[in-house]
Amino acid sequence: FNVPVPKNEPVKAYAPGSPERAELQKTLKEFRSQEIDVPMYIGSEEVRTGNKKSMSPPHDHQHILGYFHEGDASHVEQAINAALGAKAAWETMEWEQRAAIFLKAADLLAGPYRAKINAATMLGQSKNAFQAEIDAACEFIDFLKFNVQYMTEIYAQQPPVSGDGVWNRVEQRPLEGFVFALTPFNFTAIAGNLPTSAAMMGNTIVWKPAYTQIYSAKVLMDVFKEAGVPDGVINLIYVDGPTAGDIIFNHPDFAGIHFTGSTGVFQHIWKTIGENIFKYKSYPRIVGETGGKDFVIAHKSANPKAVAVGLSRGAFEFQGQKCSAASRAYIPNNIWADVKKYLLEDLSSMKMGPTEDFSNFINAVIDEKSFDKISKYITEAKGAEGVEIISGGNFDKSKGYFIEPTVIVTQDPMYKTMQEEIFGPVLTIYVYNAEHFEEALELVDQTSPYALTGAIFSTDRYAIEFATKKLRNAAGNFYINDKPTGAVVGQQPFGGARASGTNDKAGSMINLLRWVSPRTIKETF
Ligand code: NAD
Ligand code: ALA
Repeated sequence: FNVPVPKNEPVKAYAPGSPERAELQKTLKEFRSQEIDVPMYIGSEEVRTGNKKSMSPPHDHQHILGYFHEGDASHVEQAINAALGAKAAWETMEWEQRAAIFLKAADLLAGPYRAKINAATMLGQSKNAFQAEIDAACEFIDFLKFNVQYMTEIYAQQPPVSGDGVWNRVEQRPLEGFVFALTPFNFTAIAGNLPTSAAMMGNTIVWKPAYTQIYSAKVLMDVFKEAGVPDGVINLIYVDGPTAGDIIFNHPDFAGIHFTGSTGVFQHIWKTIGENIFKYKSYPRIVGETGGKDFVIAHKSANPKAVAVGLSRGAFEFQGQKCSAASRAYIPNNIWADVKKYLLEDLSSMKMGPTEDFSNFINAVIDEKSFDKISKYITEAKGAEGVEIISGGNFDKSKGYFIEPTVIVTQDPMYKTMQEEIFGPVLTIYVYNAEHFEEALELVDQTSPYALTGAIFSTDRYAIEFATKKLRNAAGNFYINDKPTGAVVGQQPFGGARASGTNDKAGSMINLLRWVSPRTIKETF
């Protein structure tokens, strides 16, 4: 099975004067000057309901990028029927053919669709050019290519042992029914990966994206169609979550959910599935990557500059709207003055503004709801005892949903911004007594219910080993002397446990194995 060996997609720099920068700027201009009309894609149909909802850049919310057609319960039913109708042909297609379709999709994204997917992500989700490139282009291309590699390994697995006169084999069947892909706004790559990884293994999909990600979802759908994904294999619908859930979680053919989003929504979904368990033909697969309250802890031996850079990049890239973003830090008092100096220096060089100006590092948060939630935490912190804002703290939604990168220092390690997922550009720091490292590790482990990512900075081997053991269950992705963000597909399989998800490691064989239901066959001669 010599499928092309995957390599991580090189990240383009978009340097001034480069052809990729010129093409991206041209595409941004084109996307800004038109108003697109986005249908749902159900089976072979482009469905336009006439119930149009506008799409705007979060950094310029009065500008209209276009409209999508919202559906209702009847469209959820149609999408389920389309998925079930497409199943037989898709699951019996040679897996090499399915693999080829997704490799073609990766190729289209790397080439003719690269500027389009990046521009759609920059305008629709307010990511700067480099963030869009890392997420929408490179990470999704990597997901597609590496998943094809894992798929190959799954189908090529050694058969079980057979005795004389007996032939044992294991057949990797897709799940029986349809899979629901329910995706978040914050990563175009994740939105693309959830339907495609399950589809690769022969499943057919109902995909409901977050409304704030529909612009880039539409571009992905164009790619899937051009790559040859047959009608009905991936059905893209825009129906509000509870309405979609009501139909899907009551359907006997519901075979599994591939979810990424907030912990509360996932817990609600899990409970609903539990309540409906007698309605389904099979126990549904429940795969969910959820929230985080990701930490950085520095040991007294840490290099202050490395810690500061880890904090500023880990906390504020992507406006902190990253499940992995550093949002609580534990810094020993012996290095705090230096860490603070370097951190403030770094933050003072971060420009904030619209994504079309490539020099802006900080862009807008996704929508008014997020803006209000995040800014409320900052407002409360301004009046709280034992809490100080040492950088940022301002916000303005008059033109776009802009929030300055904000650093809070608290004397209370259990202060709410140390515990709760804010999902925005807010970092809270607790300065601990450098001689009480073990107590600080206890705090890291017990302050929040999440366990997604975390990092330790130290130059002391003993401290690194001690922390790695002590924090064994505190993060699904643990980084030593690096920021807790930026997992690369094929290099650091990504996901967390506790309230952060089922830890089925997106972009790994573990994940793909959730989308098959093996059949063991024993033949006797
Ligand atoms: P969200 O939970 O609000 O929405 C996720 C999806 O669920 C959306 O499509 C939404 O429309 C839908 N939804 C919301 N309520 C629903 C309901 N009652 N029934 C059915 N569907 C419903 O999340 P979001 O704001 O889009 O994304 C941010 C969250 O995602 C953060 O909590 C972040 O930590 C998490 N996230 C986690 C990972 C990870 O790998 N662990 C990666 C990215 C994002
Ligand atoms: N994969 C992304 C990261 O690690 C979410 O930051």
